[in-house]
Amino acid sequence: MTDLTPDELLSTTRAVRRRLDLSRPVSRELIEQCLALALQAPSGGNRQRWSFVVVTDPAKRAALGELYRTGFGRYRSQGIGTSRSEPAPRSDAQARILRSAQYLADHMHEVPALVVPCMSPRTDGAPVVEQASAFGSILPAAWSFMLAARARGLGTAWTTVHLFHEREAADVLGIPYDDVMQVALIPVAHTVGTDFRPGPRRDLTEVVHWDDWGAGTA
Ligand SMILES: Cc1cc2nc3c(=O)[nH]c(=O)nc-3n(C[C@H](O)[C@H](O)[C@H](O)COP(=O)(O)O)c2cc1C
Repeated sequence: MTDLTPDELLSTTRAVRRRLDLSRPVSRELIEQCLALALQAPSGGNRQRWSFVVVTDPAKRAALGELYRTGFGRYRSQGIGTSRSEPAPRSDAQARILRSAQYLADHMHEVPALVVPCMSPRTDGAPVVEQASAFGSILPAAWSFMLAARARGLGTAWTTVHLFHEREAADVLGIPYDDVMQVALIPVAHTVGTDFRPGPRRDLTEVVHWDDWGAGTA
């Protein structure tokens, strides 16, 4: 276990890509500890309609890695959405993230464990209230998993682009696609070193509105 304070844990749990140790296996016990903590997260009505598929089998990791790489290529050329695509990289920082993300795409199959959080039922085309309830019922658990991992010297990254090929990934993992929706693919590995710094973020004053959206933040 690292000796991070709660604030250090919350501010230094980053998307780890280049510093994933691809040569060191992650024990089942460590992953189960993180998942047990994840299950303490809240979910709508405490319904806990979540599942987590942990993938360590080399052939399945290779298949998921291939789907991820193809999905990442599509993201680079088209962005995520059909109506509003992601802007092309505008700054050095964004270009750095893209290079780091490409590294992960090239090595996803080598990451010792891949965790796929899932929700049931699917919410394709559902109203926002239903989408928010479904995704809001899995995100806290998945983030708890990532925090617990960081506390144990493991690195993770929230990724989504394999979902361009969600059905194929469901086939690889035996997930019943019609009932169960994958929400992410989280690579898990020991980190190379445990020292991480807080990330670049917009200023509080730019994003917080007190009482009224238009009233400014001062
Ligand atoms: C919803 C969501 C989707 C993401 N999808 C990907 C992805 O497909 N591939 C990837 O490399 N990173 C992905 N990320 C990681 C973000 O790029 C990363 O969290 C962000 O750049 C901030 O970096 P930091 O977490 O290290 O501070 C995703 C993050 C979120 C929250």
